[in-house]
Amino acid sequence: MKTTGLFKKSASIAIATLLASMIGCAATSGPAPMRGADVAAPDRAPVIKAYGEKIPGVGQPQLIARTFVGQPPMVSHDVEKYVPITMEENACLDCHITDELLGQKVPKISVSHYSATLKARDGKPAVSMDRFQCDSCHVPQVDAKPLVDNKFVGVTK
Ligand code: HEC
Ligand code: HEC
Repeated sequence: MKTTGLFKKSASIAIATLLASMIGCAATSGPAPMRGADVAAPDRAPVIKAYGEKIPGVGQPQLIARTFVGQPPMVSHDVEKYVPITMEENACLDCHITDELLGQKVPKISVSHYSATLKARDGKPAVSMDRFQCDSCHVPQVDAKPLVDNKFVGVTK
C-alpha cells in the first residue's frame, strides 16, 4: 500500500514537471501559424493569381471533371468580361440559356435552373431567381498549388 502511494506521488510530480516544461516550451517557441506570421503581425496581401484566360467557345472545350454528385460544375473559361452580374445584365445567361450560339456548342443550364413560376419569354426559358447569381455557385479557376495538402478523392457516380 505504502509503496503504491509513494509511486503515485512521484508519478504525479513527474507529470507536473513534464507539463510545466511543455508549457514553458510552448511559451518560448510559440505555435506555428499556417499563415506564416504571428497573429499580431499586420496582414500580408495575398499574392495575386491570374485566372485562366481561355475564351469560351474557342478551341477544344475542356470541361473540368466534376468530383461529386450534385456539384455545380466549375467554370472552364475566363469570366472577367462577364462579371459583375447585375439586374440589367447577365452575360452568362446570354450564352448559357442555349446549347448552341453562332454555331458554337454551349453547355446549357439544366432544367434545375428554370423557374417554376416565371413564364418563358421569346422562346427562352425563364431562370429561377435562386440561380440568377451564377458566380455564387460556379467558380472560375486559377492554376495554383493547393494551400494545404489533402487526400480528397472525388466520387462521381
Ligand atoms: C460567350 C459565351 C459564354 C459566356 C458569356 C459565358 N460562358 Fe460559360 N461556357 C461557354 C462555353 C462555350 C463553354 C464550354 C467550354 C469552353 O468552351 O470553355 C462554357 C463552359 C462553362 C461551364 C462549364 C460547364 C460544365 O458542364 O462543365 C460553366 C459552369 C460556365 N461556363 C459558367 C459560366 C458563367 C458563370 C458565366 C458568367 C460569369 C459564363 N459561363 C459566361 C460559353 C460562355
Ligand atoms: C445555387 C447554385 C447555382 C447557381 C446560382 C447557378 N447554378 Fe448552374 N448548376 C448548379 C448545380 C448544382 C449544377 C449541377 C446539377 C444540375 O445540373 O442542376 C449546375 C449545372 C450547371 C450547368 C451544367 C448543366 C448540365 O446539364 O450539365 C451549367 C452550364 C450551369 N449550371 C450554368 C449556370 C449559369 C449560367 C447560372 C447563372 C444564370 C447558374 N448556373 C447558376 C448550381 C447553380
